[in-house]
Amino acid sequence: MKQTPIKVAVTGAAGQICYSLLFRIASGAVLGDAPIELRLLEIPQAMKALEGVVMELDDCAFPNLKSVVIGDDPEKVFEGANIAMLVGAFPRKAGMERGDLLSANGRIFTAQGKALNNVAADDIRVLVTGNPANTNAMIAMNNAPDIPNERFGALTRLDLDRSKAQVGKKLGVTTRHIERLTIWGNHSSTMYPDLFHATVDGKPVLPEINDNEWVEKTFIPKVAKRGAEIIDATGLSSRASAANATASCMHDWELGTVGGDWTSMGVVSDGSYGVPEGLISSFPVRHKDGNWEIVQGLEINEFSRARIDASVKELEDERDAVKELGLI
Ligand code: NAD
Ligand code: LMR
Repeated sequence: MKQTPIKVAVTGAAGQICYSLLFRIASGAVLGDAPIELRLLEIPQAMKALEGVVMELDDCAFPNLKSVVIGDDPEKVFEGANIAMLVGAFPRKAGMERGDLLSANGRIFTAQGKALNNVAADDIRVLVTGNPANTNAMIAMNNAPDIPNERFGALTRLDLDRSKAQVGKKLGVTTRHIERLTIWGNHSSTMYPDLFHATVDGKPVLPEINDNEWVEKTFIPKVAKRGAEIIDATGLSSRASAANATASCMHDWELGTVGGDWTSMGVVSDGSYGVPEGLISSFPVRHKDGNWEIVQGLEINEFSRARIDASVKELEDERDAVKELGLI
């Protein structure tokens, strides 16, 4: 039976993250069995390297990969896209914070937001991985007035996965057992991994951990600084784990979260949990039918409130900085 392929646009396609991500998408791990057309964007200097990546995609003979289109013009590459994964942006180097990338990377997202607005399909969904992810997503969203704001997301799934991994190690269980963990705020060192609602095998996780000092002094800083720890160790920012998180986030957005669990993604705030409207902040979200919904009604204690507020304040500062740069 002939089916129209899902058009998946990916930027930064010759970069480190995409060297893992593209193969996951093409294999069906992200969107299931649907036929896929990959539409890959790069800058002109990287086109030759991208051609090599396409040769390798061909050589995998993925059963559902219908075609691959490459180019350096977003208005052409985003034509008819149903999904866009915006990975292409410069990574930070040792000693930098992710926010230091704003002026270098922010402009990429004005141009790409406009191009998506002009040529993407009506059902487009846009996930931003390139840093600083939340504010870049906000820039793209503000430059795409015809695309509903709810169609933009920023990747905080890597922080969620890192958090689950640390809790799993502490308790000696695999991450399958851990649910309802939440990442709040910015994908930066201020991001807050909240364990107060998290469960292990359905039971509250904090009494099982029973070590508040570990939570405050080890767990939270470990997750916050994990990106920098990887840069120190490898000289490069996280690649395979970032690709895995991007793939998992898009998978859940498209195909839904299951059972009573929720995930985390940077989404536009409607004022929930006191986060100012219009910021793209990480929240606990559930996905169904290609949409998301913020999990409501969680009690936020003083410990969590202070940390959420600090990260949201950073998002407000980033929003003000990009306003000043004329990007929104
Ligand atoms: P990389 O330098 O290996 O690859 C980036 C690619 O983007 C390069 O090939 C570059 O040519 C391309 N590019 C630059 N400008 C572009 C444009 N205007 N259009 C299309 N492509 C463009 O970097 P990487 O390791 O793949 O990381 C990519 C981004 O993802 C970085 O900003 C990094 O900080 C970020 N990141 C985010 C997370 C997260 O959790 N949100 C995790 C890891 C990395
Ligand atoms: C990460 O969290 O690994 C990425 O955002 C890369 C970085 O700069 O830390």
